[in-house]
Amino acid sequence: MKTCQRSFNAGNEVIEDYYNTLQRYSTLYRILLSRAYSTETTFNQWNRIDLKLVNELGLTLTHLQKKNCWLEIDCHLLVEKNGHFSTCTEYQIACRPLQHDAWEFNSNSDIAGFHHDSEGDFEYMIFNIDEAFVSDPQQHYYIQIFPTCKPQQIIQAFPLVIGPIAIEDQQTTVLHSNQWCDNRVLSQGIFHACCVQEHTFLVIKENWELGTPGKMWDSALVLSQMFSDKIKSDPTRFKNHRILDLSAGTGCVGLLMAKLYKEIYGENKEYLPQITMTDLPHALDLIYQNRATNHLEGYTEIQALTWGNYDDVKTLLLKGPIDIIIASDVLYEPSSFSKLVQTLDWLSAAVKNIDIFLGYKRRGLSREDEQSFFQICAEKFHINILPIQPDNKLITNEGWIVGGGFSNIFKETGVNIYQLVRK
Ligand SMILES: C[S@@+](CC[C@H](N)C(=O)[O-])C[C@H]1O[C@@H](n2cnc3c(N)ncnc32)[C@H](O)[C@@H]1O
Repeated sequence: MKTCQRSFNAGNEVIEDYYNTLQRYSTLYRILLSRAYSTETTFNQWNRIDLKLVNELGLTLTHLQKKNCWLEIDCHLLVEKNGHFSTCTEYQIACRPLQHDAWEFNSNSDIAGFHHDSEGDFEYMIFNIDEAFVSDPQQHYYIQIFPTCKPQQIIQAFPLVIGPIAIEDQQTTVLHSNQWCDNRVLSQGIFHACCVQEHTFLVIKENWELGTPGKMWDSALVLSQMFSDKIKSDPTRFKNHRILDLSAGTGCVGLLMAKLYKEIYGENKEYLPQITMTDLPHALDLIYQNRATNHLEGYTEIQALTWGNYDDVKTLLLKGPIDIIIASDVLYEPSSFSKLVQTLDWLSAAVKNIDIFLGYKRRGLSREDEQSFFQICAEKFHINILPIQPDNKLITNEGWIVGGGFSNIFKETGVNIYQLVRK
């Protein structure tokens, strides 16, 4: 019996060790849902939202992190009309800690957000400032949940967006307020919003059930920042370029670039680069959904491309050579390294000065595996690591991370950007 106990404990230690290793490189936590939310509300009605805090890999806080965790959240209300997301100005949103009845389970948190736990909660209420305002049924509302900037915040978290939420007339929802016959529609839909310029957003859906292509990874956040800084400081920089977001996952980097160009040039397509997003065939649906949500069909292309498949590469190159490749967080499976480098080699064969930007951050790969990728890569490419320094002039409230996020996403996520130059 004793032996059994010992080996059980030893097993636990191994698991704990591996867990801590995977946690070591997590700085930016994700605010996710721990329960579905109602897609309907009425004015002046408090609505409960249950949340959890996990890292990119879906792991919750360690014991020590939980002990110190104090993450207060606040909300913004966004409105979507015809694929255009902006800050809602006609209604306001308030947020408070969960108020619970005596008979109910204790709330996990005594603040709106997370306190000593990976599970958190809060309540929100939407109210109408101008009662004479008549709401437009074409409009859909989204709630951005973000960390406040209080000094007690120790955990850094990526804001979450939920929606669409319909605001119904008081009369039609009388029945809903009776919790014993609650038949409201529930949703697990999760999104992130990037403020591209004052009060205008790109909104990207995640689907964690899809696995790796269903999430926005840290390198994508850093590359998003890098490319939006470049585009904002010189909108003509990529004029007539062909840009490839290789294995785009949610499509967030390519779609962000397209959204920035749409905001800058509108229907005038003369200055637009041609932006293509590729991924494995089963991963494309999410990119199509995100493109449609933001009405960016005329600004981007989507194609299947499996690493090592020459036919896919040929199809892509039929429309002309590629000038820039963005490869965000594509190093995680050592058995695919050769096919990935082979693909980069085929794609870059036609353009002498092609720029390849590879975003990578250490997570579960061993040093040997990491080195083996760079060795294979060095046979075809010179590898430069880019200095990580954002242009201070461009630091604003814009980007994916609002509220008490990072002061410097480049430094703090642990992501490195490598520039590969063909030999
Ligand atoms: C960690 S995700 C990164 C997604 C996105 N670039 C980002 O940074 O958010 C890795 C991506 O590589 C894609 N991928 C994995 N194996 C692939 C293969 N053999 N060929 C093409 N894409 C692949 C996955 O579908 C996924 O979208």
